[in-house]
Amino acid sequence: MHEFDVTKETEELAVSKKQKFMTNLFIPVILGTTRQGRMSEPVAHFMVEQVTQWNGVETELIDIRQLHFPIDDAGQEIKDPQFSATCERADGLILVVPEYNHSFPGWLKHVLDTNLEEYIHKAVGICGVSASPFGGTRVIQSLLPVMRELGLITTFYDLNFGNVNKLFDESGKIAESEKEAYLRRFGRFMKELVWMSAVLRYGRLNLSVEEQEVKTATPNYHANKPCPEIAAKMGMETADAVLRVTCSQTGKVEAIPTN
Ligand SMILES: Cc1cc2nc3c(=O)[nH]c(=O)nc-3n(C[C@H](O)[C@H](O)[C@H](O)COP(=O)(O)O)c2cc1C
Repeated sequence: MHEFDVTKETEELAVSKKQKFMTNLFIPVILGTTRQGRMSEPVAHFMVEQVTQWNGVETELIDIRQLHFPIDDAGQEIKDPQFSATCERADGLILVVPEYNHSFPGWLKHVLDTNLEEYIHKAVGICGVSASPFGGTRVIQSLLPVMRELGLITTFYDLNFGNVNKLFDESGKIAESEKEAYLRRFGRFMKELVWMSAVLRYGRLNLSVEEQEVKTATPNYHANKPCPEIAAKMGMETADAVLRVTCSQTGKVEAIPTN
């Protein structure tokens, strides 16, 4: 089994990239409303609890109520160092967002607008929350162009927490009758988000937008497909140059000879 070829990098950079590549993914959960009595709060706790149990992923809750941004200014001028550092460290984000008049809470936008570089080429999964049965589908729609402008890449699988007032009890536990279905949907949501976060982490560490003439030589195969070009780069004989490239859920890429 060979580690992915990083011989073109300086040794030091290669080691630091490899270390980063081997670490768990970090995908924090942002609770996107400050409203008193918010039902999005048990949703966010549910997400943190489940993500914590996902192998190879670390998370933490970012409650935008705890972020005290000024109201007489906006954008990157008013960065909160800790919030920005958390977003910088993140490989992906989970947004838990209630639907307010078919859109997102204004304060969430105010908070998100304080970063830009920190988000670029990272994945985002969205959980819509609403009192209606639609589960925040309209807030998700209205968030999509914002995500794009922030440089975040949305997954194609969302989570919808509809009828949220009936979904969680007073202690914040999800209704037993709904739990299994939500865990199943959560699994699908996470598989997609983790894959996307791992792929984007690999891209950020290894592929430069500026040096495309060099990097276009890198084959863009999907995982588990033969990659003879990578074998050639690793100095293997063409005869035994059939490799399978795998990318684990934690983002570790390996090239495995198949003969
Ligand atoms: C200002 C405001 C606007 C709302 N607009 C909508 C809406 O457009 N569609 C909807 O399904 N629910 C709407 N709701 C109800 C929320 O879906 C409901 O409060 C739900 O519990 C999620 O929001 P929360 O986290 O603040 O509790 C609105 C609530 C507020 C406070």
